Order: sequence, then C-alpha cells, then structure tokens
Amino acid sequence: MKPAVFVSHPVPQTVRAYLERHCNCVVWEGGKPVPRQIILEGVRDAEGLLTVGGRIDEELLAHGPKLRVVSNISVGYDNLDIPALRRRGVIATHTPGVLDDTVADLILALMLSAARRVPELDRYVKSGAWRKEDEENLFGIDIHHTTLGIIGMGRIGGAVARRARRGFEMRVVYHNRRRKEALEQELGVEYCDVNTLLETSDFVLLMVPLTPDTVGFMGEAEFARMKPSAIFINASRGQTVDQEALVRALEAGEIRGAGLDVYEREPLPGDSPLAAIPQVVTLPHIGSATARTRQAMAELAAQNLVAALRGETPPNLVPEFADTT
Ligand code: 8YV
Repeated sequence: MKPAVFVSHPVPQTVRAYLERHCNCVVWEGGKPVPRQIILEGVRDAEGLLTVGGRIDEELLAHGPKLRVVSNISVGYDNLDIPALRRRGVIATHTPGVLDDTVADLILALMLSAARRVPELDRYVKSGAWRKEDEENLFGIDIHHTTLGIIGMGRIGGAVARRARRGFEMRVVYHNRRRKEALEQELGVEYCDVNTLLETSDFVLLMVPLTPDTVGFMGEAEFARMKPSAIFINASRGQTVDQEALVRALEAGEIRGAGLDVYEREPLPGDSPLAAIPQVVTLPHIGSATARTRQAMAELAAQNLVAALRGETPPNLVPEFADTT
C-alpha cells in the first residue's frame, strides 16, 4: 500500500505526478497560505507532509500521529520545532543547494538597487518629474571595488562572494561559525570578527539562519558600528534583525540605506516606517522565486519525502536529524 501524504502547497504538475506514483496524495488546492486548520486535518492519517514555512510544532504533530517525515520546500527550517519532532520520531528534510545562485542573484539586485537607487529613480522618471538639471541629486554609490562583508558564509553566501569577487571585483570579508578555508583559497575572501566586518564594510550582508542564537543579531550596537555610508542587506529571515533599531539607524543617518527581502512580520504592513524611507529597497521575500528554481525545490522536496517514506536516508535530511536514521 502506498503511504498517505498531505501536500499543503501547490506543486508543479510533474512533481505531483511523481508524488502520486509513490504515495496516496491529498493536495490542498484552496489557495495560499493554507489555513492552519486545514493542515491539522490534513495530517490526520498522513505519514508524510510536504509543506512550506508553516509552523510544525507539538500541536500539529499531535494531530498527525502517523507522521514519519515533514518535507519542507525551503532551505530555511526555522518553522520546525526540532525537539518536538525528535520526541515523536518524525524526521524533517529541506532543499539546500538548488536555490543558491537564484538567491545570490537577488542579493546582488538588492545591493545594486540600494546603491544606485533604482526603485526610487524608476518612480522619479515615471512620475514625469525628471529634469536634466537634477542629475547631481540622483547620484548613487559604487558597488564595484568596494568592500562586502558577509555574515553567515553558507552556500548562498559563497555564491554571493563569487559574484562580488569575479563580477564586481569587490573585496569580500566574512564571518562564520566555522572558517571556510577552501573558499578563502578559491576566491580570496578574508575571515574576520563581526565588529571588524561591521566597521570596514561598504555593504553588510546578513545571511545567518534563524535560530535562538541569531534572533535580533543586528541591533542598535551593530548598526552603530557600520559606516554612515554603508548599506545593509538582509535576505535571511526578518527576525535576525531588530527592525526598530534598523529604522532608527536609517532615520538617524547612521547607515546610508538598506535592501531587504525579509521582515520581522510578513507581509510587511504598508504603514511600516520602513516603507516610508526612500533609501530602503523592499522586496516581498522572493529570494528563490524564479519558476526554474521553485520547480527544482519542489522536485527535491518530493524526492526527500519519497526516500524517507521508503525508509531510506533522504538526501537532504535537516542536519539536526542526522543521528536518527
Ligand atoms: C522559501 C526561503 O522557500 O528557502 C528558504 O528558506 O526563504 C524561500 O526560498 C520561500 O520563502 C517560500 O515562500
């Protein structure tokens, strides 16, 4: 008998066909985000759950007593209550690797947009306000031959560093829990402590995963260390930044600008102070959102799910479960 699976997120047709070959699938087709109650009911008889971003906690696991695997269609897995999953013997998987270049491209877009004021100037031209004599008020700053500081040098950080070094000839400094000697050799990136990074970088990119240790990682003291001419970029998770401190730093001119894909609360409310600051570029958490990459993420998540349900070690087990299979 095929195992029962609940799919709480729309997946491409090819992925659905693959899942249906291996599992008895119930797919939620009622629009996003899936209501919590629907997931709670959906997992009642399910051995597997394929999902994106929703909280996987004690309550949900209690509703799904047969669950064996939760497959996240994302690389970040801060939506998982790992101790609760472990207590119940449920494993979890994610989708690292396939989105690195896509997210890195978007990070460069944020850097360029904030540095050269692309969205602001786009609005300016379209409003009909363009006057040739304005030009000096429209100047931005360079990204080439400046210094990029990357906090959290994982796969995506590496893909950004590669672009920054090879495409924009930037100096790249980084901080990470573990030093990345191979990357230092390959790209000439330089390891340093967080304070040095904050004090010397023209662009500070935050890419740490969200964990209890990284909540509010960037706060008042960290922004105060940055150069007044520097731009802050966040494409990790919104909760890694004290957003009020970021707003204060921007308003006080402690930093020049910001490029953000993620926020403390998503969607960002339209009346957020961030929305009123012209030198802040805001995107709606779309780092991995190209059709090709989202297809690849869904495929990988489906393969992880099927492998786990077969009793195999899935290719992309969340590291915290490495000792369980
Ligand atoms: C999510 C992401 O998949 O992979 C991650 O961790 O943040 C994204 O790629 C996306 O946010 C889903 O909505």
